[in-house]
Amino acid sequence: MQPHVLITGGSGFIGRNVTRCLLQHGIRVRILDTTEPPSDLASEVEWVQGCILLQKPLQAALDGCTDVIHLAAELGIGRSQAEPLRFFEVNVQGTVHLLDTLQKTHHRVRRVVLAGSMTVYGEGRYVCPGCGEAGPVQRRPDRLVQKQWEPCCTRCERDLVSRPTPETFPAQAANIYAHTKLSQEGILHLLAEQAGIEPVVLRLFNVYGPGQSLENAYTGVIAIFTSCLLMEIAPLVFEDGNQRRDFVFVEDVSEAFYRAWATPGIGGRTFNIGSGEGHSLNEILGLLRGLTAGRASPRILYQYRKGDARHVVACTENSLSGLGWSPRTPLGEGLGRTVRSAREDIRTPLNLEKMMGELRRRGILLEQGASAAVSRSNA
Ligand SMILES: NC(=O)c1ccc[n+]([C@@H]2O[C@H](COP(=O)([O-])OP(=O)(O)OC[C@H]3O[C@@H](n4cnc5c(N)ncnc54)[C@H](O)[C@@H]3O)[C@@H](O)[C@H]2O)c1
Ligand SMILES: [Zn+2]
Repeated sequence: MQPHVLITGGSGFIGRNVTRCLLQHGIRVRILDTTEPPSDLASEVEWVQGCILLQKPLQAALDGCTDVIHLAAELGIGRSQAEPLRFFEVNVQGTVHLLDTLQKTHHRVRRVVLAGSMTVYGEGRYVCPGCGEAGPVQRRPDRLVQKQWEPCCTRCERDLVSRPTPETFPAQAANIYAHTKLSQEGILHLLAEQAGIEPVVLRLFNVYGPGQSLENAYTGVIAIFTSCLLMEIAPLVFEDGNQRRDFVFVEDVSEAFYRAWATPGIGGRTFNIGSGEGHSLNEILGLLRGLTAGRASPRILYQYRKGDARHVVACTENSLSGLGWSPRTPLGEGLGRTVRSAREDIRTPLNLEKMMGELRRRGILLEQGASAAVSRSNA
């Protein structure tokens, strides 16, 4: 059977890159998205403009397809706390709708590959230098207001040390977005059999690259720092800037989706898609300042944003052995390409002061003296 892949959310940042990658492999692609595909792809793909929550566009999009790559979602921790209903509607209900429609129709879909997220790990895996494995951890509000950013051991109170997080690590969703991403996974596995499909989940870490949205202060830190530096605006950095993330280049992520589509015998499995390396935001800023020649100094805020993890890095052994996938693009090269593309298309970043005001208004920033209130609300 000639492969014909439906990419939901195919007009988005990752979707456009996955589309290009599949087209390069000679695969026929159809996009379902509320927005049109970018002009360079529009003539090469079939597309259905519409919402995944609506029967008509979804059925039209699925008609004749052999596989689905499910990317359509609302993104961002901060926005999800402000618009929980919208996030559950698009992310959770959207996924239920996709599987329910497959269950009720005669279809040819073999596999559904879901874009999961590292946010489901919460703080990820840590060890205590004295006591060993720490299990799932949460940072203590009383330490955060004292600007003690590292999570500490519940037994001996020493600072914990971050380790790569494997897929088997217990999920610990700490914000609405993470809950919707975890629900998507659960629903995909639960309904797979009755929908007659093989589920595969890719838990993406911090994806970056040319063309990423600047709307989202949480997912697109590299995109936002880049546009700030190009416009000589001081980038804002939460905590002390030494928090580490695992940044993975969008073209490598596209290759992972291709392999998740092409590799036989992986139905039911979950794979981390990250670089396996942690880089602090300060390190990233140093590299970006060099590449952009940006003179604006970052403003380190020494403030905690609720729902943020301290360090999260992928253990990538499973994706190497199961998908034969490993990231190819070194960080310096990926950042260089991101900056070059941003120079050609300078976009105004978020109004940072406005964003800070909103976070404060919604109680998402942990301020000095807020410890008691936070402890109560966490109880
Ligand atoms: N960017 C990252 O770092 C990252 C990390 C982990 C997981 N992910 C996941 O990857 C996927 C794609 O993310 P992205 O960075 O490309 O985001 P994006 O916002 O650029 O793309 C999402 C796309 O989904 C479309 N969409 C939204 N609601 C829709 C609806 N109701 N019906 C149809 N289409 C709809 C949007 O129009 C958009 O084109 C998401 O599922 C996201 O949760 C992204
Ligand atoms: Zn200990």
